[in-house]
Amino acid sequence: MKRGLDYDRIAAGYDRRFEHDAPSVATARALVDVIRPMSSPHILEVGCGTGHWLGQLAPVTGQLYGLDRSWGMLAQASAKDLPAGLVQGDAVSLPFARAAFDLLYCVNAIHHFSDQRRFIMDAARVIAPHGRIAILGSDPFYDKNSWYVYDYFEGVWEIDRARFKSWDLLAAWLSAAGFERVEKSEIRHIHTSHEGREVFSDPFLRKQATSQLALLSQEAYDRGLERIQSAIQKAQDRGEPIRFETELSIFMLTGVKQAA
Ligand SMILES: C[S@@+](CC[C@H](N)C(=O)[O-])C[C@H]1O[C@@H](n2cnc3c(N)ncnc32)[C@H](O)[C@@H]1O
Repeated sequence: MKRGLDYDRIAAGYDRRFEHDAPSVATARALVDVIRPMSSPHILEVGCGTGHWLGQLAPVTGQLYGLDRSWGMLAQASAKDLPAGLVQGDAVSLPFARAAFDLLYCVNAIHHFSDQRRFIMDAARVIAPHGRIAILGSDPFYDKNSWYVYDYFEGVWEIDRARFKSWDLLAAWLSAAGFERVEKSEIRHIHTSHEGREVFSDPFLRKQATSQLALLSQEAYDRGLERIQSAIQKAQDRGEPIRFETELSIFMLTGVKQAA
């Protein structure tokens, strides 16, 4: 199994995930709530991908910028003609001047960065005094989360455990980098439950729908599907129902950059 996902390869089909994710409105709303009190802010999304969230923020006043490492993802963002400047670069070495932004945010991306602590330190450099950082995403270590994919696809949990940091650790790194009022809030909760074969219609079971499954080899992915198939068959033979459950909380971690 690969550790890093080739986003150039999956860029063209990436936005399909948003077709099935109507509640992602809550994520956009959480960002807009952070931005609302700011006047004409300079805003940077790090790991902006295809620009989905920049597009959601387009009605806010201010200057929007997106940075991503993948040219393929940036090409998708560029085709949307967003009112945002797009920059190719690495999150751990941001090509921007000190104090250039009033808000730097990151959605479902920090676990892909090679050195998350270094990213936070560099973010602190480019955020102006009293400016904000917002990190949004899921936390596989949260004990109320569960995802049936971890049970049926071998190695997926191990790879998430290796690349995700606990949010307590991220919070500690924010404080050490000079952010105060560091707060974690739950911004949405996803619950899905598929009975029996209906699970195969779960859009998030598609191989390219999440980085977890996209990282698997085709053989490992097929083996996972076979395990699901076999569990359904065994349940049927016993005359018992079988359900495939997902409970997933999405969090936002925010901090305010201390005055110099
Ligand atoms: C799961 S996608 C999230 C994209 C977007 N934020 C969204 O929610 O749709 C992760 C993104 O992080 C980008 N990425 C991964 N490592 C990066 C790095 N070191 N620096 C900048 N971007 C990176 C990938 O290219 C990809 O576009």
